[in-house]
Amino acid sequence: MKRYVLIGAGNRGYWMYADAIQNRCHDVACLVGILDINRKRASYVSSQLPGNVPVYTDYDAMMRETKPDCAIIATVDRYHSEYIVKTLELGVDIITEKPMTNDAAQCNAILDAEQRTGRRITVTFNCRFMPLISRLKEILNDGVVGEVLNVHFEWMLDTVHGADYFRRWHRQMENSGGLLVHKSTHHFDIVNWLIGQDPAEVFANGALRVYGPTRTRRSERCCTCPYAGQCEFAYPDENDPGIRGMYFDCEKEDGYYRDRCVFDPEIDIYDTMSLTVRYKQGALMTYSLIAHSPYEGWRMSISGTKGRLEAVQYDTGAQAADPCFHIKLYDRRGGTATYDLRKGEGSHGGGDERLLRMLFRGDVPDTLGQCAGSRDGAMSILIGIAANLSIREHRPVTIDELVPPEKLR
Ligand SMILES: NC(=O)c1ccc[n+]([C@@H]2O[C@H](COP(=O)([O-])OP(=O)(O)OC[C@H]3O[C@@H](n4cnc5c(N)ncnc54)[C@H](O)[C@@H]3O)[C@@H](O)[C@H]2O)c1
Repeated sequence: MKRYVLIGAGNRGYWMYADAIQNRCHDVACLVGILDINRKRASYVSSQLPGNVPVYTDYDAMMRETKPDCAIIATVDRYHSEYIVKTLELGVDIITEKPMTNDAAQCNAILDAEQRTGRRITVTFNCRFMPLISRLKEILNDGVVGEVLNVHFEWMLDTVHGADYFRRWHRQMENSGGLLVHKSTHHFDIVNWLIGQDPAEVFANGALRVYGPTRTRRSERCCTCPYAGQCEFAYPDENDPGIRGMYFDCEKEDGYYRDRCVFDPEIDIYDTMSLTVRYKQGALMTYSLIAHSPYEGWRMSISGTKGRLEAVQYDTGAQAADPCFHIKLYDRRGGTATYDLRKGEGSHGGGDERLLRMLFRGDVPDTLGQCAGSRDGAMSILIGIAANLSIREHRPVTIDELVPPEKLR
């Protein structure tokens, strides 16, 4: 029976890991401690689980008393590296949520600590397990596209999902690295993994056009805002019992308001971003992310020496009703093929459940190489970190400037 501690008892920590371990994987795994700076939130999570899992705010005490085999990191992004490094130093393995961390110095520190301690970091890139992404990887592995020359990738967050990043800690660069790190780490990892190439250079642009101080009719938070009745971004879930238990009832402890105004002047991340990446092995990528789309989804094309793949996923909006995904393959002789794939059920199209099974049970072979480590974690955040620097300094930024290449072999 493997012993786990959870560090960061928020939404993801609870629903993805604590719930899975205590309710669905308890024959192979056991949660022995939950740590959060907000004791009330950690206690709430423990109270929702079987097993009376002890709650801590003191990291050293938890590690001493619980003697875990592995720590799961699901805190606010900026604190991932601190916990990763000190946990590795104790000889304990890590499962960390994405992004592995959110700046280059911390990325270097994590890679050094892993090398020094010989322990193992797993980065949970659940998007690799999404059915459409897994299928693209299988098709690419068949060689039908040939050598990949170009990727065009567009990700659309709708105004429900997208706005939520502007209500909480994500909205400050220092906490999340902005969406180009916090969110796009998924997208960059998908591309790096699909095409099997390493990013070399990034040039980016970013803007804040919809959220941030774009309106004068705003307030600190929605539940006390005089304009909430007329605002299409008013927080809709204040009365959800789970949200109340996890956030509203705990806010006196640390001032974490779940419903901060999306038009707050303290917002310093972008909501509209586009960039280009040159890969070491020669591929070029153009990528864009918006956080204010009328519908949620993504669209990708991958062109190579033999053909071109096109895939699209609609998560909301009229076209989301289609029960299948359709991948199109075009070859150079005018031929086309369509791969139809039934959509999966559950979080991230069932991807989260497949990832959990591999993490905790390990009873399915990893034939596609879906389990990711620190190198993958680094390569994907480094594109976002380079993009942020590129936007700030109006210049192309190389990955080698951020982390020496010998650390990423
Ligand atoms: N893979 C995915 O699809 C996915 C989805 C959602 C979130 N996430 C990741 O999970 C992590 C948590 O996100 P969330 O949505 O649960 O956020 P959240 O705000 O609900 O939870 C974050 C928790 O971290 C705690 N915390 C903050 N600083 C801390 C510190 N120094 N020490 C210990 N705990 C601290 C907060 O009190 C809070 O309970 C993030 O890194 C996020 O990127 C991943």
